[in-house]
Amino acid sequence: MKLMITKDYQEMSLLAAEAVESVVRRKKNALLGLTTGNTPIGMYHALAEKSRAGELNMRETHIFSMEEYLGIPPDNYQSLYQWLNRVLIEPCGIASERVNRIDGSAPEPQLACQVFDRTIESMGGLDLVVEGIGTNGHIGFNEPMSPPDSPTRIVALSSETQTYNFAYWDELVPAHGITVGLAAIMKAKEIVLIASGSKKAYALKQALEGPVTSEIPASYLQLAPQLTIIADREAASLLTIDKEGGFPCPHSSV
Ligand code: PGA
Repeated sequence: MKLMITKDYQEMSLLAAEAVESVVRRKKNALLGLTTGNTPIGMYHALAEKSRAGELNMRETHIFSMEEYLGIPPDNYQSLYQWLNRVLIEPCGIASERVNRIDGSAPEPQLACQVFDRTIESMGGLDLVVEGIGTNGHIGFNEPMSPPDSPTRIVALSSETQTYNFAYWDELVPAHGITVGLAAIMKAKEIVLIASGSKKAYALKQALEGPVTSEIPASYLQLAPQLTIIADREAASLLTIDKEGGFPCPHSSV
């Protein structure tokens, strides 16, 4: 486990973009499991910028979008697929056939989830997963009480998640989502967890320093073989583990 504490959001975003870039440089057709939300925006902007400048070629990567709202068609502006499309897929020139989205409006969504997991498996598993953390310790939409071997599935969004996501919706926040399961996340060859701001500090502390428990799904990441946490100073403010020498902290700029 590697913990990188950055002075601010900007530095967190650049380091996260570098982590993605280094996987893509090693394997140009890498399978990337990518999250949505406020935290990764800066990282996606940095990757889009490098692509536009011709410094990075992501055209051959395979993108797996990690979460979606149930019942929201992919062409809906508010679908998480469209969000990822706007911030990363289009700017980086990634062809749509290389993008694996969870279809929130599939006639048989449960079947679509199984197909999604089988696709990941048949392509050799995810090379890199980038995840944020929810204030309730969720990753993706794996809400508290998600088991570590959970498949991609339909989930009821917690009231905390719905309240948090309210800003993204002018009307009612969907009550259900579809999330890549913890099983596929935990099997990824590398996981990067990003966190920014004091509102994430307690969840991050519970995830990294608390017991491994389904009450805090992100705590399962303690068991992941290749985990890098990139957190800005505010998000890392409650951590004691690096000060005790628990993790190597090579990039800490605090
Ligand atoms: P955020 O969400 O990046 O919008 O804070 C993170 C998450 O809920 O996983």
